[in-house]
Amino acid sequence: METIAFASDHAGYELKEALIEYVNSKGYNVIDFGTHSEESCDYPDFAHSAAMAVEDGTAAFGIAMCGTGNGIQMTLNKHQGIRAALCWRPELAALAKEHNNANILVLPARFVSYDEAVAIVDAYLNAQFEGGRHQRRIDKIAVK
Ligand code: RB5
Repeated sequence: METIAFASDHAGYELKEALIEYVNSKGYNVIDFGTHSEESCDYPDFAHSAAMAVEDGTAAFGIAMCGTGNGIQMTLNKHQGIRAALCWRPELAALAKEHNNANILVLPARFVSYDEAVAIVDAYLNAQFEGGRHQRRIDKIAVK
């Protein structure tokens, strides 16, 4: 089964722990890059490690969260090999995979319930990248 890289700050810690349990129950392997408590911390300290694991293939993809999702998404997307998508509805998560081939799903932990987060994760996991014109667009994202 595939390996998922997880990262959060303190605001996403509780949801991260719950989602790790959820994906483990579905058979996925997990690398948890932290944070490891609700003590206040800085999301880049955990985001960069998760991004590098996805970039180098140690993990097949990632799931990350902070309070809004914005800070950790901004950090992840500084990595050339990362397409991190902030999703607060299942439809957005499915489209992030289908159209953008997002390799890190980002959740706004303070703005989604556990049940909503699971639905978003499931939509992402069940979707397939469509390729074609979407690959052409992805190929134009990088700053050369
Ligand atoms: C932490 O309070 C909060 O600022 C952080 O989790 C995130 O929302 C930043 O983008």
